[in-house]
Amino acid sequence: MNNKDINVITVDGPSGTGKGTIGQLLAQRLGYHYLDSGALYRLLALAAMRHKVPLDNVDALTVLAGHMDISFEMNCDGDAPVVILEGEDVSSTIRTEEMAVGASTVAVIPEVRQALLGRQRAFVDSPGLVADGRDMGTVVFPDARVKIFLTASPEERADRRYKQLMDKGESVSLAALVESVRTRDERDSNRQVSPLRPAADAIVLDTTGMTISQVLDRACVIVSEILSR
Ligand code: C5P
Repeated sequence: MNNKDINVITVDGPSGTGKGTIGQLLAQRLGYHYLDSGALYRLLALAAMRHKVPLDNVDALTVLAGHMDISFEMNCDGDAPVVILEGEDVSSTIRTEEMAVGASTVAVIPEVRQALLGRQRAFVDSPGLVADGRDMGTVVFPDARVKIFLTASPEERADRRYKQLMDKGESVSLAALVESVRTRDERDSNRQVSPLRPAADAIVLDTTGMTISQVLDRACVIVSEILSR
């Protein structure tokens, strides 16, 4: 089967909109493969830290982006995939605020984004792929059949993140998180390459005040309407 015949569904948006959860649940419901593209940027930040590569060394970061030894182990119970770096399970290590900041720092480098492009496209596999991130619909999979862009107010996104971190026992202040969400949004939206914005043909869904199951139901309706055309 030609890659062009495989359905790709993109779920983009800023952090805290629930796109990771929605992407995973959607993939599970459809029996599709799943790509968490943000994890690649987080993995690069972690690999750089471990190999003592400064986050402004473009050449070394680009080589690392193209060659880092990573894999995702899917599980059937709908949980997040296990993320492996050089044979080690780093699923929780990459979810810290430190790695989020590192990820958004390396993500502004065009050479890094280019080096990760092919790695992301290699996830396309039969019967289909759900890919979540910032530029899935605009740059990585511009021909995707379905493009969804999730938004929510910065306050609500910070509050969701606050609860996630508290559940994991990380202590952070809510005010600092609102600030961090705003700073990260600004950096992601204003960078030269692949700025965070909906694709012209994306369906924008504001999830403020909605539960995950309401967003999932809405996303499923959008997907089935478009795929049945
Ligand atoms: O989605 P997640 O919060 O894991 O992404 C971490 C960071 O990686 C984002 O803040 C963004 O800077 C970067 N990223 C990106 N393009 C993507 C996915 C993530 O620039 N497709």
